[in-house]
Amino acid sequence: MKKSIIFTVLCASILFSQEGKKEKVSFAKEVLPILTKKCLGCHNTDDGSPSLLYFDDYKEMMSGSSKHGPVIIPKKGEESTLIKKLRGTADFGKQMPRGKKPLDEETISIICRWIDQGAKNN
Ligand code: HEC
Repeated sequence: MKKSIIFTVLCASILFSQEGKKEKVSFAKEVLPILTKKCLGCHNTDDGSPSLLYFDDYKEMMSGSSKHGPVIIPKKGEESTLIKKLRGTADFGKQMPRGKKPLDEETISIICRWIDQGAKNN
């Protein structure tokens, strides 16, 4: 009897601690404003973006038509070229945003979490 109570409490606390990490990231409210502010100056359809990567349109961004193929692999944040480019660990070109201060880890992790959650247009 006692054991099962302890087990239940243990399970509940594990569930709770996992819950905090899984808070849903919104593309429109959290990710897009970062991309608009830090990346759109170069990666936009009007000016002809370098590497054919455009951040002014979700569909276009997800289409995988940029020079090195898809930059976002849904559910695989750390493996996505976009995150590697922000960390400076991609095996081509420069760290993004190019020629500017790198994004802080907290900002990168918001984008990474959004990709891990499926990179939805939410
Ligand atoms: C000052 C202009 C500039 C800004 C700002 C900029 N980029 Fe770039 N981006 C480039 C250029 C030029 C390239 C091509 C050369 C390279 O890969 O370094 C590129 C390439 C990329 C690629 C590789 C695409 C491919 O398939 O080859 C990714 C991913 C990327 N940028 C993401 C971003 C993100 C995310 C931001 C915002 C945090 C950003 N960039 C901001 C100029 C910029």
